[in-house]
Amino acid sequence: IVKLMLALSSGYLLGSLNTALIVSRFYGKDIRQHGSKSAGLTNTLRVLGKSAAAFVLVGDILKGVIACLIGLYLSVYFYSESAQVCISLLIAGTGAVVGHNWPVFFGFKGGKGVLTAVTVLFMVNWLMALICLGFFVLIVASTRYVSLGSVCAAMLFVVLSFFPVFESTFYFNLFACFMTAMVVFKHRENIRRLLLGTENKLRLR
Ligand code: G3P
Repeated sequence: IVKLMLALSSGYLLGSLNTALIVSRFYGKDIRQHGSKSAGLTNTLRVLGKSAAAFVLVGDILKGVIACLIGLYLSVYFYSESAQVCISLLIAGTGAVVGHNWPVFFGFKGGKGVLTAVTVLFMVNWLMALICLGFFVLIVASTRYVSLGSVCAAMLFVVLSFFPVFESTFYFNLFACFMTAMVVFKHRENIRRLLLGTENKLRLR
């Protein structure tokens, strides 16, 4: 239990290093007061442009990877349905997404956790991550709604986690449901705008 607490807190603290907020400070701005007000990659691209977004991309991927490596290092395994699950990895990864969304260092107002979540998923199940990423790209390329791509890819993730071919454990299904619930919850304003037809489209500048 100590190791699991350690996994959760280190994941959370790493996730709280919200790169969009850190980078936007260098530009003399608080990203949460501009664009969609989300402290994430999409809004950084929208408000600050490509080079700032590149930093966010690298930073958020890096923290997701490091959080997962810590989880793997702590290596607490649970045995379920004759498979073994590295529960500390799932917990550290979840912690990183929670930290990104509700960062302790920035008044608990962060981003929507999509990039961090997909990074964590790559560390846990790269094939599933690749399928979700492909689906995301397809939707964004055809509609130019990043939020729609994020929500649909997150939903696909839950569905895939229940596909028998992946032989997911109960813990993995729980992890998938929780991650997706966070993504959907964080996108509630986007979903409303999508329904109203007022959501921002991705515009590269
Ligand atoms: O990953 C966040 C994206 O899905 C939506 O971002 O800034 O348009 O709300 P944003």
